[in-house]
Amino acid sequence: MRVGIEAIAFHSPEHYIELADLAQVRGVDPNKFTKGLGQIRMAVATPMEDTVTLAVNAARKALENFDIDYGDIGTLVVGTESGVDHSKPVAVYVHEALGLRSNCHTYETKHACFGGMAAVFSANDWISCGRADGSKALIIASDIARYPIGDPGEPTQGAGAVAMVISDKPNLLQFDPEISGHYTKQVMDFWRPLYSKTAFVDGHYSIDCYLDALDGALADALDKATLPELFRMDRLDACIYHVPFTKMAAKAHHRHFETDAGEKIDKESARFADVRASFAQRTGPWLSLNAIVGNIYTGSLFLSLIDLLRASTGADVKQISLFSYGSGCAASVNIAYPTPGFERFQSKIDPEPELKARRKMSIAQYEETMAAQDWLESGNTAQLDAGQWDLTGQVLYLGNKNHIRRYSGFKRSVPQAAVSELLGASAQ
Ligand code: CAA
Repeated sequence: MRVGIEAIAFHSPEHYIELADLAQVRGVDPNKFTKGLGQIRMAVATPMEDTVTLAVNAARKALENFDIDYGDIGTLVVGTESGVDHSKPVAVYVHEALGLRSNCHTYETKHACFGGMAAVFSANDWISCGRADGSKALIIASDIARYPIGDPGEPTQGAGAVAMVISDKPNLLQFDPEISGHYTKQVMDFWRPLYSKTAFVDGHYSIDCYLDALDGALADALDKATLPELFRMDRLDACIYHVPFTKMAAKAHHRHFETDAGEKIDKESARFADVRASFAQRTGPWLSLNAIVGNIYTGSLFLSLIDLLRASTGADVKQISLFSYGSGCAASVNIAYPTPGFERFQSKIDPEPELKARRKMSIAQYEETMAAQDWLESGNTAQLDAGQWDLTGQVLYLGNKNHIRRYSGFKRSVPQAAVSELLGASAQ
């Protein structure tokens, strides 16, 4: 049975900052962020956009742009590092907002940035083993990456959600049914205790952990594969990686290339030019969206995949590898094949028009927005100038009342009066 991605869509917050502006305010050479990390812009979520609203907006686009009946969704999984409740999954809010059927298997997956790919593997298995019985899985990777203001991780924040419909009608991409490699090791490279809104990270160590996990997952895949040659670099037209910042994907591809070549290749090596050429062909072209959105944790690998699917052709890209990494850590590598004719869906999946319509924040506005997150979360909207963000999204988070999260734009949403009340706070 063919299983893969039938529909895909990305949703970004409506605001961003320029990393060159951030560098200037932090007293850092802008080249460190734009060239050293490879990041140009960073999406900024306002307090009224959370992992639920991002997920719902992405899911509606995926279902509607591809004319998929909401009643066909039999499994809904949201992979996220930045859930909204210690107990209640983001997925159940999404289930309500989309009006999905009550016998839909609904849950949340967590393993830092690996949660989205973990859900894709589950969906793949659910369909392949025949239990889906014609139904489809809606998998959403939704996150808001937050580090403390001024932290080395600050320029590697971002926010957004990728929604995918996985089914036995893979219009866009088919997963290889057999070839995958996995790796797990308990490491303290990045974590977020229950009491913290921002991540703790041992940044340089996390890069080493990521690369070790790539080695481990590749070794497992090559060990198990009946056709290990499918992982050979010369068989891969594109190599897609988890992208916390685009330079990380370059480091990953370098390591992947070395594994394939069976030798260490440093800047002085004769083959260094081959590494750069391979990156420019197989990975670099699919990082343009990540560079202007930032790290979206669970969704970042799939954002790079959208970049590939929106801009490549079936003649150029027939076989690809996907590497997912989640700190803590877990990783996987697998092989997939863009479905012949996927190009006809390119205008449906291209998020560029929406990204171009985003509004730029100054660094002062960004800092005020970060500070305001906690006011709404605590139910204290008195100080909140909600009108300043001029949000147009159909689904908005309106804060807590009696410890219950309230949203606008759900099927059974709070009345419009409550939205006006909150948005009108600034006018009073
Ligand atoms: N011009 C050009 N390049 C410059 C420069 C300049 N003026 N100044 C510095 N650079 C380069 C550096 O040489 C370096 O490049 P290389 O790694 O290729 O040598 C790059 O810019 C970054 O410089 P530093 O290493 O000095 O930066 P830093 O110490 O401030 O922190 C970081 C970088 C560790 C990535 C930090 O941003 C961080 O902690 N980020 C969060 C953690 C993270 O993203 N880890 C990735 C792996 S874990 C993962 O993938 C899970 C996840 O999503 C979090």
